[in-house]
Amino acid sequence: MPDSKTRVFISAGDIRRRIREMAAQIDRDYADEGPLHMIAILKGAFVFLSDLTRAVQTPSRIDFMGISSYGRGKTSSGEVKVTKDLDTSIEGSNVLIVEDIVDSGVTLTYLCHVLQQRRPKSIRIAALLDKPERRMRPVKVDYVGFTIPDEFVVGYGLDYAEDFRNLPDICILEA
Ligand code: IMP
Ligand code: MG
Repeated sequence: MPDSKTRVFISAGDIRRRIREMAAQIDRDYADEGPLHMIAILKGAFVFLSDLTRAVQTPSRIDFMGISSYGRGKTSSGEVKVTKDLDTSIEGSNVLIVEDIVDSGVTLTYLCHVLQQRRPKSIRIAALLDKPERRMRPVKVDYVGFTIPDEFVVGYGLDYAEDFRNLPDICILEA
């Protein structure tokens, strides 16, 4: 699979510039709030989290939640499974869910439901990519990096069957 061709779709430079803008917006919105509790969804969001958390000036804590809904293919199995839970409590916290891409919306709908029950002060969502054409469940994404068409993308943390996560650009996988 690493032999498959990839074509740069969003360059590392464009990602960096957009994340700076997103971080400035986040800083404005949380200016008078306590620390931010950033929760990244494993594994795809790990690169985005590392850049976003360094671009944001608001004091932040990070934690990870493992959720799998995809198996090894390109389409959601529709089944959502928690594979790793948070290490810390979010009760009373301003939670910012950090996600690589919102596709069907199944993962985030489920995750918001789970986290809501833990009585955070607020929950917002930051997603680097949004593919609204494929939405099956409505999700309000508060901070979107790029809205993209219905293409399967890899790189910058996103994988196809665990490959390509290390590419610095977001690329389209060609058959
Ligand atoms: P959803 O539950 O369908 O919204 O799925 C979201 C998850 O599916 C993301 O966190 C990604 O891990 C994965 N995903 C969706 N679209 C893509 C893509 O184009 N490339 C790689 N992973 C994707
Ligand atoms: Mg993911």
